[in-house]
Amino acid sequence: MSKATLKLDDKDIELPLITGSEGEQAIDIAQLRGQTGLITLDQGFVNTGSCQSAITFIDGENGILRYRGYPIEALAERSSFLEVAYLLIHGELPTQSQLDEFKHSITRHTMLHEDFRKFYGGFPKSAHPMAVVAATTAALSTFYPDSLDTDDPLEVEICTKRLLAKLPTIAAYAHKHSIGQPFMYPDNRLGYAANFLRMMFATPCEDYVVDEVIAKALDVLLILHADHEQNCSTSTVRVVGSSQANLFASISAGVSALWGPLHGGANQAVIEMLQHIEKEGISGREYLDKVKDKKSGIRLMGFGHRVYKNFDPRAKLIKKTCSDVLARLHEQTRLLDLAMEIEDIALRDEYFVERKLYPNVDFYSGIIYRAIGIPTEMFTVLFAIGRLPGWIAHWMEMHQQGFRISRPRQIYTGATERDITPIGQRG
Ligand code: ACO
Repeated sequence: MSKATLKLDDKDIELPLITGSEGEQAIDIAQLRGQTGLITLDQGFVNTGSCQSAITFIDGENGILRYRGYPIEALAERSSFLEVAYLLIHGELPTQSQLDEFKHSITRHTMLHEDFRKFYGGFPKSAHPMAVVAATTAALSTFYPDSLDTDDPLEVEICTKRLLAKLPTIAAYAHKHSIGQPFMYPDNRLGYAANFLRMMFATPCEDYVVDEVIAKALDVLLILHADHEQNCSTSTVRVVGSSQANLFASISAGVSALWGPLHGGANQAVIEMLQHIEKEGISGREYLDKVKDKKSGIRLMGFGHRVYKNFDPRAKLIKKTCSDVLARLHEQTRLLDLAMEIEDIALRDEYFVERKLYPNVDFYSGIIYRAIGIPTEMFTVLFAIGRLPGWIAHWMEMHQQGFRISRPRQIYTGATERDITPIGQRG
């Protein structure tokens, strides 16, 4: 099949078909409005491809996720977050010397400008860290005005390294500010995840030794979050970038999009939900009955996905990491037990089976973060650190491919033309 035919009354409109490397097909409607005056309407972009991309492949029916062709399971087991970041951004796994150079250059950018630290003092201690991270990420462009030139490949490359290097520092400072502790400078002898843990939990008055098992678990979590093709925040980064906004501004918009509870904010919502169930003293079954009652307006957070209509492969890997981390920390497993009980019931319940609702990446990740000691409000920030290489890779791919400004159309349903009634006569 190379083209589709759309019948409009007695006129046949031929539309080309596009085929991807995994055999997925799309009808190319770019000329539809020109030929017919019609547009397509697809609220929530459920059925709309916004671009062609060579970064990430998802088969939601079969629970498959691959970055640049490599299965997520293999990358989680045999790679590191910075290696995966290199893969996503450059398209190929690095050689040892390429990886060493990449790590070295990122390590050299981990510090924030001293004046940058002053921003934090202006935020209330109670500020949500996602708001702080979005604001400070956008503010990076005030310190690096050269980054405003999106056509200079060298500037863009430095910008990507600054982002990857500084986001953990930005995030840890947001936490330290909220609890009134001194900021900890990065320690460039440590790996990416270990350095973040130290900046989060160390204080200047005591030695702090990073638990390498926990650092490894965090590194795996970051890998699992690193990209997920055209999700809400990545699409936001592309849309903002399509106006030729710089990378810092585009990534800041991605952070804001990720914040919502239907997207990255779900990991925070899951823990709050489990704690609520525990506090109320109700069983998992009773809570699921509430979820199934549509009038309650309650959703089972961490369940369901726009693309996965089968197990989210990331959820399987995270569930395993979750058990390992809790065992390592000799942590109580109450919330994990409750989550597993809910999962078990839901997977056999007609409501969830019919709608193909499975645990997603967020169902177990919050339990790990909590066991490590990450405060609930920081969960989505961790997601943002993980997703950053994906956002960068998509922004760069769009620039390499060439693009037009993203500008959807609409069907207007408001009032037709009318006269202004003088104010005294309006009722
Ligand atoms: N709990 C209960 N019912 C659900 C859930 C849920 N978590 N998710 C979907 N449904 C039901 C809907 O009520 C709807 O039922 P209906 O057909 O009787 O009306 C049906 O399943 C389809 O749901 P939609 O909302 O149309 O699915 P959509 O693809 O638009 O939404 C989403 C996907 C937002 C992820 C949804 O499943 C949800 O809200 N899940 C909970 C929040 C969550 O975990 N988000 C994280 C997603 S993963 C990520 O962003 C990293």
